[in-house]
Amino acid sequence: MNPYIKANKEAWNLLAKDHYFEFKRRYQTRDNLLSPDIIKELGDISDKTLIHLQCNTGSDTLSLARLGAKVSGVDLAPDNIVYANKLFEDFKTEGHFYEADLMEFGNHHQEKYDVVFTSEGAIGWLPDFDQWAKTIVQLLNKDGFFYLYEIHPFFLMFDEDLFPKEELDIRYPYFGRQVDKSETIGGYAAEERIGESYYWMYSISDVVNALIKAGLKIEFIHEFDHLCYNAGNMNDIGVGSYEFKKWHGKMPLMFSIKATLS
Ligand SMILES: C[S@@+](CC[C@H](N)C(=O)[O-])C[C@H]1O[C@@H](n2cnc3c(N)ncnc32)[C@H](O)[C@@H]1O
Repeated sequence: MNPYIKANKEAWNLLAKDHYFEFKRRYQTRDNLLSPDIIKELGDISDKTLIHLQCNTGSDTLSLARLGAKVSGVDLAPDNIVYANKLFEDFKTEGHFYEADLMEFGNHHQEKYDVVFTSEGAIGWLPDFDQWAKTIVQLLNKDGFFYLYEIHPFFLMFDEDLFPKEELDIRYPYFGRQVDKSETIGGYAAEERIGESYYWMYSISDVVNALIKAGLKIEFIHEFDHLCYNAGNMNDIGVGSYEFKKWHGKMPLMFSIKATLS
């Protein structure tokens, strides 16, 4: 296993228990935790088979199941899989979870799905988008689709420590897929933990071109001015979406892509 991915596996494992309890708590007051953008753009997925890539502890996978899909999930961290199974047991829902590095998953997983789904803070943990896109193609049924709802790389360029002060300064280079080492992990749904982790910056063209090169046809790409977590001093606009007070409507914070095989 790539040593960076090995470090990420250990780091993500540290958060699994906390994420399980936090997401379970959120399900006490809400039936579905998905962003309304996702629900709208996915359309009717009832009775479709769906695989959730980088599913964490299965929280969004559970919401996808509640939209009627027959769900599976794959994630790198073994404890995420343990807690995803536990969450599904708690809510008496059927789902299948696989522990795997997505960079290798396609080499041994033969099943195909109507929907391949990824969202919110996932793809920056992957070093090789060509391998990622090849895996998506491999997992898709002939008439299936891939859906991505992800943090916009324009937003990711800025120094996160300055957002609470409503200041902007570029900290991370947009170009070049450079890896950034961090001594901590998490903080978006549970307390941040000490854990060495590695994240690769990406550009919009990195993502789109990898999908095209693998043979996918882009049906749409959309950009949004709200974010899937509170980066500091943001307005909560409901169901896990936040807007900057100062820059609302002025900069892209999330993007989505739908792609098909033909
Ligand atoms: C920010 S979380 C994604 C959260 C997601 N939005 C959800 O549904 O909860 C990123 C996830 O990617 C997983 N991950 C990181 N690198 C991976 C890899 N190489 N293969 C598979 N999963 C990976 C981590 O274990 C973590 O659960």
